[in-house]
Amino acid sequence: MSVLDRVREKARKDLRKIVFPEGDEKRTVQAAAILKKEGLVEPVLLGSEESIRKMAEETGSDLQGITCVDPLTSEKAASYAAALYALRKAKGVSEEDAKQLVQDVMYYGMMMVKLGDADGLVSGAVHTTGDMLRPALQLIKTKPGIRTVSSSFLMDCPNKSLGDDGLLIYADGVVVPNPTAEELAEIAVTAADTAHDLCGVEVPKVALLSFSTKGSAKHELVNKVQQAVEIAHRLRPDLLLDGEMQFDAAIVPEVGASKAPGSPVAGQANVLIFPDLQAGNIGYKITQRIGGAEAFAVLQGLAKPCNDLSRGCSVEDIVNTAVSTAVQAQMNE
Ligand code: ACO
Repeated sequence: MSVLDRVREKARKDLRKIVFPEGDEKRTVQAAAILKKEGLVEPVLLGSEESIRKMAEETGSDLQGITCVDPLTSEKAASYAAALYALRKAKGVSEEDAKQLVQDVMYYGMMMVKLGDADGLVSGAVHTTGDMLRPALQLIKTKPGIRTVSSSFLMDCPNKSLGDDGLLIYADGVVVPNPTAEELAEIAVTAADTAHDLCGVEVPKVALLSFSTKGSAKHELVNKVQQAVEIAHRLRPDLLLDGEMQFDAAIVPEVGASKAPGSPVAGQANVLIFPDLQAGNIGYKITQRIGGAEAFAVLQGLAKPCNDLSRGCSVEDIVNTAVSTAVQAQMNE
């Protein structure tokens, strides 16, 4: 069973309500119909009822039993605006601004999640990553004890001897451009939780990557990764976590044994932490395009799950992202 098949099974067992701000977008409407029909999540589509219905007709999608909400006419808009104003007035948002913001499908969807009217949110078929991340960071905020929202890529590799039966978790490839040592440590522990809670990896083995293994090179960039390892150990002494180490030392048993002898993760890591966003984003694309891995991203560290799609996403990508969001919501409880 692939990791996404396992996630689907978990989602099906305990349904969660997922809101789609891009409710009248073609692929989103099709995905919502599949999610409802297959009993994977309870979708909520945002947008004008007329445009959602028109898109459903055009695509032959059955929307029976699916809730559609138009933020422009919703009776909840006033209470969402009041709650948004309370959350953001210290940042200069006026009551009038708050009323305007909740007319935007993204902010309306975020407030649904914030106030518990939905369990999670999926968008990005139309909006950019930043369009979705900023309101999520401003309104949903982080989980207790976590200050850094980041991402994990689930890399399903053809070589099943790697990681956890071919599954490697890469972090962070989406959010934090240039993490501090503290942020890198938090990215490492939240990625370990994603591996365990979402992907079913029984024992996450976390390697913090660098161009140096165990002091083989001296540089301020290496120092930062070494500090992150120390902080992560303090945050979560229970985790199997080590670094700094090179990519090959992390995943190739012979290289790990020779460059980092005695390490609990070298040569067998299944969670790989990249030192910054450039490395993480380039790394996942190399694994995907040259290594032939399937790549799938989730955000981690938010108090309630919100996930981003790529604008070139397929209907299946939206279904997979929705079920992952639902399982993250289950795990939060
Ligand atoms: N974790 C938690 N909170 C955060 C984080 C974070 N990683 N980053 C910002 N915040 C908070 C800030 O504290 C602030 O909160 P406040 O308004 O309550 O004080 C709020 O979010 C907004 O912060 P800004 O600094 O104004 O936000 P910024 O303009 O820096 O945007 C963003 C944040 C969108 C995440 C930015 O860091 C970014 O653009 N990251 C890269 C996104 C990207 O382009 N990724 C690659 C493409 S995606 C792909 O390839 C799959």
